[in-house]
Amino acid sequence: MTDDLKAAAQEYLVRYGSDSFPNLFTSAKGSIVTDSTGREVLDFTSGQMCATIGHNHPAIVAAIEDAGKKAVHLFSGMIPEVVAELGAKLAGWMPAPLKKSLFLNTGGESNEAALRMAKLHTGGHEVIALGGSWHGTGAGAGSVSYASDRKGYGPTIPGTYVIPEPNAYRCPIEHCRDACDGACMRVGLNMFDMASRGEGAAIIAEPIISAGGIIVPPDDYFVNLKREAHKRGMLLVLDEAQTAFGRIGKKTAAEHFGVVPDIMAVSKTLGGGVPLAATVTSDEIEADIHDKGFTFYTSHVSDPLPAAVGLAVLATIEAEDLMAAAVEKGAYLRARLNDLQQKHEAIGDVRGEGLMMGVELVKDRESRQPDHELGALTTERCFELGLSMNIRRRPERGAVWRIAPPLTITKAELDQGVDILDQALSDSLNKLAG
Ligand SMILES: Cc1ncc(COP(=O)(O)O)c(C=O)c1O
Repeated sequence: MTDDLKAAAQEYLVRYGSDSFPNLFTSAKGSIVTDSTGREVLDFTSGQMCATIGHNHPAIVAAIEDAGKKAVHLFSGMIPEVVAELGAKLAGWMPAPLKKSLFLNTGGESNEAALRMAKLHTGGHEVIALGGSWHGTGAGAGSVSYASDRKGYGPTIPGTYVIPEPNAYRCPIEHCRDACDGACMRVGLNMFDMASRGEGAAIIAEPIISAGGIIVPPDDYFVNLKREAHKRGMLLVLDEAQTAFGRIGKKTAAEHFGVVPDIMAVSKTLGGGVPLAATVTSDEIEADIHDKGFTFYTSHVSDPLPAAVGLAVLATIEAEDLMAAAVEKGAYLRARLNDLQQKHEAIGDVRGEGLMMGVELVKDRESRQPDHELGALTTERCFELGLSMNIRRRPERGAVWRIAPPLTITKAELDQGVDILDQALSDSLNKLAG
């Protein structure tokens, strides 16, 4: 059966840029995923950065069962009780005055909705995003995603702009080294002002640029970015797909950076692995766009099943004190990664917040030339040794391990993962040395 299914996967599935693993996968529980041979692998990526409360948490399973007894899906115009309940609950997690939510499914969708809201509210259409950002694959979100995958699909939406990202380790304007002084934003916005037709709608940003290599902006970055957005009549949209709901030890990264965006998009970490996303804004913006006829009518808007799961995820984060866990285990992980950096010259930088860490691999620490070959070899070796780990590879920018395990991971599992990283790095360096 297993071999038949492996053959079926090759025969019948479109290859979408996925990593190639030797086997198919059958199940996942907590921080462990199991393949079709029964081999268990430690998951340092929380699935696709979603499963913050661990894979198949009993609370998620119970919520799915409960939805099965009540309602899985309804006519999109009908608001299920559980969606109203999640709306009220989510408002308590958002920084005031953000309180009105549109419940969707994917992160890309939540950003499409955010950009439509910003365009309708401002009357403009120009959107700025940061270099290395990733907001989704749809036309709107894809137009403002710069991490990869832009080539070969024709024109993007007119009016999309990019400004250099605040990468202190690898300054895109070759100006700073190790401390970003915000020149990237000033330069980028000057270029935008030159190009703009004066019809700005939004600046959209990930609070920590994830696919672009776990880039943590300076503390005052988003306060300044919001001021600059408003100066130009644009809204600030924060895409908190990965950072909201405890991942970095806070309710949101907006709270961490002391800024309140005009619109926030949340997704991955709200559904804990089930497709649930939300676009959240203030009463004022919601009322204005409603008056202007805002629509975002999808087959699965306000679906009850994912909403029930979202409630379960938020309740679990509270009940298991997972925000505090992210802070504590994040500090522990960082200390262990710092030790690894002492040992291996190839680790140029260790950065991140809470349980969202990046480890950048370089050929040498002075030139900081990215070591993509080492990154690929190490990731492969990690998997052989029982650790699923994600390397972000941007040819021009760096080879960065992205480490974001479930917040429920145990310290023993963290140790096991870091020990595997250590071993994989040594083995790969030996292999490269010949
Ligand atoms: C920050 C961010 N925003 C949006 C998305 C897109 O989310 P989805 O893949 O659910 O459409 C991603 C996906 O990786 C992401 O990392």
